[in-house]
Amino acid sequence: MTASTENRGQFGSKLGFILSAAGSAVGLGNIWKFPGKAYSCGGGAFLVIYILMVIFIGTTVMLGEFVLGRKTQKNAIGAIRELNSKFAWVGGLGVLTGFIILCYYCQVGGWTIKYIIGYITESSTIYADPMSYFLNNLLGADRFPVQGAIIFPLIFLFLTAFIISRGVAEGIEKMSKILMPLLFILLIGLMIRSCTLPGADAGVKYMLHFDPSTIDANAFLVALGQAFFSLSLGMGVMITYASYLSKDDNLITNTGIICFLDTCVALFAGFMIIPAVFATGIDPGIGGGFAFATLAGVFMSIPGGTIFGILFYFLLFFAAVTSSTSILEGTVAFLVEEKGMERKKTVVMVSIVLFIIGVIYTLSQAHMSIKGIWISREGITYPIFGDFMEYLTDRLLLPLGALATTVFAGWIWGTDNAIKEATTDGKYKFALAPLWAFLLKIVAPIAIIIIIFAGMFLGMS
Ligand code: PHE
Repeated sequence: MTASTENRGQFGSKLGFILSAAGSAVGLGNIWKFPGKAYSCGGGAFLVIYILMVIFIGTTVMLGEFVLGRKTQKNAIGAIRELNSKFAWVGGLGVLTGFIILCYYCQVGGWTIKYIIGYITESSTIYADPMSYFLNNLLGADRFPVQGAIIFPLIFLFLTAFIISRGVAEGIEKMSKILMPLLFILLIGLMIRSCTLPGADAGVKYMLHFDPSTIDANAFLVALGQAFFSLSLGMGVMITYASYLSKDDNLITNTGIICFLDTCVALFAGFMIIPAVFATGIDPGIGGGFAFATLAGVFMSIPGGTIFGILFYFLLFFAAVTSSTSILEGTVAFLVEEKGMERKKTVVMVSIVLFIIGVIYTLSQAHMSIKGIWISREGITYPIFGDFMEYLTDRLLLPLGALATTVFAGWIWGTDNAIKEATTDGKYKFALAPLWAFLLKIVAPIAIIIIIFAGMFLGMS
């Protein structure tokens, strides 16, 4: 989708918009990130906090982004500038966030391609030792990971850049009509299989058991950042998407549907992966490994499981592409429209820089000696560069971007205007309008500020 103001199309159907916005939201965040966070932040208790974050803050911010976009019919930066030019930096913040996210997103997106090929050509090698396969091929525990850090991320990045520079995003959106529902169904099937594996009940219990002692300030910040990441909020992507909507579209129901679908996918992924960790004992200890190494244990246990493996990584790859294109579009649109740069050149330049940073991300996940980015904790040496990028985006930049959106929509533009736009001048009923206004103006900004501070200072022991 182009963000330029001339030649602006509109979504031909309601479903088209839901699919595109859901395509941006559903991605690696749900399947690669979420289960690892749920696992390390206390299982059931984390799920409860996460769902509350989505219901009270995620939906609030999403509707806030939608009203800004549809009102102005402009991309994120243009929308904010039109309503109040002093806040244009908010758009810049979103672009920076998107750029950092893309650096590692393309790396992990590349891993999905490696796994499609891996399941086609050497599934028995994967099954023989899923952990070693993951560590050696992708992270390069025993050698330089040419495939995991360079070849496959390059292919993924190339595809993302190609789609953006050719403006063929529409074709991709058409494909989502079939592929996204297919992913949804496959996840449900795999979740059922995983939960019924021998030994999986301990994992199911872990995910359903509410143990308040596992909740701390850190868990709140993790849940908040994860909700923003997963719902594609805090960097203006949803502002841009909504700018293509017409006045006839009901923003309120769209918000509900997208948040609901995205959260279902995250929960399915959580209940697909964590029980499998308990059942198979394949615990990579790092979030990234769950969606790759652990799942081998599930595919192995299904007759014809390799076919499901190929299909799963293909769909995960597709979900990742519909997200990565939405992020790259934001960065490129900013440089083209605000800095007057040429579109194709910009795509190439941005891609090169983010690829180089991305390589360091993957290298720093394993045991490659990159000096200066290691820390020692309790005698073990950890790489911090890769973690640092995720920390920066999830714990700080996305919450700050969402905070700016709520303050902007609730205070600068005003809740009256926002409600008018949300209901299309009263055309659509919105019984919860006063509650939303209160959440947008008061609760969400205060909660985000408190959670950032508490999570940063109290949560880091
Ligand atoms: N929501 C996407 C995912 O879960 C990632 C994303 C973040 C996309 C921010 C756009 C903006 O994978």
